[in-house]
Amino acid sequence: MRTTTLGRNGPEVGVIGLGCMGMTHSYDMATPRDDATSISVVHQALDLGMTLIDTADAYGPYTNEELVGRALAGGNRERAVLATKVGLLTDSVQVADPASTSPGASRNGRPEHIRASIDGSLRRLGTDHVDLYQLHRVDPQVPLEETWGAMAETVVAGKALHIGLSEVTVNELARAQSVHPVTSVQSELSLWTRNALADVLPHCQGHGIAFLPFAPLGRGFLAGRFSSFDDLPQDDFRRGLPRFQQDALRANLAIVGGVRRVAGRAGATPAQVALAWVLAKGRQVIPIPGTKTPRYLAENAAGADIELTAADLAELDALPAPEGARY
Ligand SMILES: NC(=O)c1ccc[n+]([C@@H]2O[C@H](COP(=O)([O-])OP(=O)(O)OC[C@H]3O[C@@H](n4cnc5c(N)ncnc54)[C@H](OP(=O)(O)O)[C@@H]3O)[C@@H](O)[C@H]2O)c1
Repeated sequence: MRTTTLGRNGPEVGVIGLGCMGMTHSYDMATPRDDATSISVVHQALDLGMTLIDTADAYGPYTNEELVGRALAGGNRERAVLATKVGLLTDSVQVADPASTSPGASRNGRPEHIRASIDGSLRRLGTDHVDLYQLHRVDPQVPLEETWGAMAETVVAGKALHIGLSEVTVNELARAQSVHPVTSVQSELSLWTRNALADVLPHCQGHGIAFLPFAPLGRGFLAGRFSSFDDLPQDDFRRGLPRFQQDALRANLAIVGGVRRVAGRAGATPAQVALAWVLAKGRQVIPIPGTKTPRYLAENAAGADIELTAADLAELDALPAPEGARY
């Protein structure tokens, strides 16, 4: 796979990475986990050059890091650029933070939480450092400079090589940068979630910061996976999202129809077109599509080689806005 650098001073990574969340969290929770297949998907990703492997302590919580740790044992750690996150709490005993954009999740950006959490992440991941440690959400109760200062301490301690942010505003990004260099920003970016194009992505591009689009496949919707609410698995996070409610989902099929049209012309799949559109936003853009399915992984990796014409990109740019908020 083609490579790019993770921010100005980061390591070289494949232009598409792998999001591991869905292997243990959020999606399809009624179906028993298939860890052996998930682990093989991580290995397949590394073999194909999708070296950026993304997880978080909140996924599970903890089960996702444990699974990724198992996948990277036995010599695979060195092949990966390992990224995890801190600061979002998804333990069911936590009281939901009304300011949070993720239902059922609260935030903790207190320096002592960051300091304590990195050690737990390293233990679960079976490594003495992560390549990228990301603040999952800014905690409105804690000055960002204090949280980011604690993130910077993990770099000084050699426990993280680089640090990044997730779902931030340009203002928050600039405040963090004044304390310690920001290597990456992870935010939702896809054909149906384009807010980052207005300001955060241009800011990243102007400052040598990598931008990691999460949910680049619209949580599977843009890949053409779902044509009705009833297609969503039981016990699945998407069942609670506005865009996936029956009427909204039906209206949003117009977006998938447009993606399919371009895919047909380009000799690609809808998932590959969704990834190619994101990749066309610039060299610093490194999407992390999530999958636990070997054939999807292979399909997504090949998305790095799809070249869309200017007319294809214009057609995709002109797709209708989605019905329904993203959370
Ligand atoms: N920073 C944050 O706040 C945040 C939030 C959400 C996600 N993330 C990160 O971003 C990663 C990706 O996001 P996501 O997993 O939510 O959404 P996504 O990548 O847009 O979509 C994942 C869904 O698409 C399906 N899929 C993947 N490739 C496919 C293909 N080629 N054809 C058909 N279906 C396909 C997957 O199915 P299977 O799983 O069944 O294979 C899964 O249901 C996560 O894993 C996580 O690491 C970060």
